[in-house]
Amino acid sequence: MNVAADSAPTWVEAWTPAEGSKRASALLRETFGAEQPSTWRAPGRVTVIGEHTDYSEGLALPTVTPHAVYVAASPREDRRVRVVSDQGGSLEGPGAMWEGTLDDDPREVKGWPQYVIGLLWAMQERGYDGPGMDLAYVSCLPSRAGLGSSASILAATALAANDLWRLALDGDEGHAELADACLDAENLAVGTLCGALDPHTILRCDHEHALLLDFAQHPTGAQPYPMYFRDYGLGLLVIDTGVPRGDVQQLFRTRRAEVAAAAAALGSQTLREVADAPLAARRVEGVSDPVLRRRARHVTAEIERVRLVVDELSGTGPAHERFVAIGKAIYRSHASLELDYEASDPTLDYAVEAAFKAGALGARVSGAGYGGAVVALVRKAQARLAAQHVAQAFADAGRSEPRFLWV
Ligand code: GLA
Repeated sequence: MNVAADSAPTWVEAWTPAEGSKRASALLRETFGAEQPSTWRAPGRVTVIGEHTDYSEGLALPTVTPHAVYVAASPREDRRVRVVSDQGGSLEGPGAMWEGTLDDDPREVKGWPQYVIGLLWAMQERGYDGPGMDLAYVSCLPSRAGLGSSASILAATALAANDLWRLALDGDEGHAELADACLDAENLAVGTLCGALDPHTILRCDHEHALLLDFAQHPTGAQPYPMYFRDYGLGLLVIDTGVPRGDVQQLFRTRRAEVAAAAAALGSQTLREVADAPLAARRVEGVSDPVLRRRARHVTAEIERVRLVVDELSGTGPAHERFVAIGKAIYRSHASLELDYEASDPTLDYAVEAAFKAGALGARVSGAGYGGAVVALVRKAQARLAAQHVAQAFADAGRSEPRFLWV
């Protein structure tokens, strides 16, 4: 079958911040009649290297997308919370408008407004408070693609609450606190046992940098590194396969239990401790349970790959060699996520293979995996051609058409 042959690949373009803000303000005005609302923006997260290391107190090196969730909001005089979305992108939900109060139990809320109420609940649990609010969300960030869109909704809400409640949680330290509130919302209100990667990236990283996140530190350590990719004509091509994600809640429950058991089998509190101790790789191979051995292998090797990529990014050797080394680490990361961590799926593996054949320096599953997107390191001059090749490969295999984002 040759479904999309010769058709141009579909690109998901990012709105400019001005456009996103304007759309959010217009939605708030149309729905709730608010005049001159304030707006906030929260980008998506894309990981250069370091996937599924965060809840083992590991390391990761993510950056942010130019695609973002925007929220416009205005404070109320009571404790009501009303939310509306543009029904597109990340924000598909059960109804056009949802209404509740700051005192609602977030675990009882259905659909995406659970993230909004969950975040406001988590802020209150941390001792912050303020009036209710009307909020309008719009987004150009694809949802369920492994780009952190649910954390972007949380982060946008946290930024709005920070200003409307006059909390002054500003600067990196203040944003780390907001990020931890987002994590509480996701873990305790929504019930997804993910780690701290997404909110700390979204609230603490800018598009010019990658952030070395250290989840063994509390609050999470964050060190910015310039994203030299663009200076050398490279960039990240995100291939959103559109394959619905598997049961991510179940994935995190199972993997959390497995990495804890693997660490215990190695006499350690966390796999980070194992990774940092001498002879980590050899010790991991001594774990008798084959599943726990593979999980430990992924996490400890992925932490090593983060260190390698950071060294290459900040190294002084010839640029081409450094980027080839980074690309190889990204391919190895995919193999490890596929075989040892079992967080990939056949369509994602196919996308990685297609990206390889299209000349990508590296490619791997993005975010939690189990469906969603693949991220590839490619030369900017070849990005359109690479996307064309990948789209053609999908068409040739009778697979549904992927969409592309340039980061
Ligand atoms: C999701 C989770 C993160 C992290 C990644 C995988 O995005 O929210 O905490 O575990 O998957 O790296």
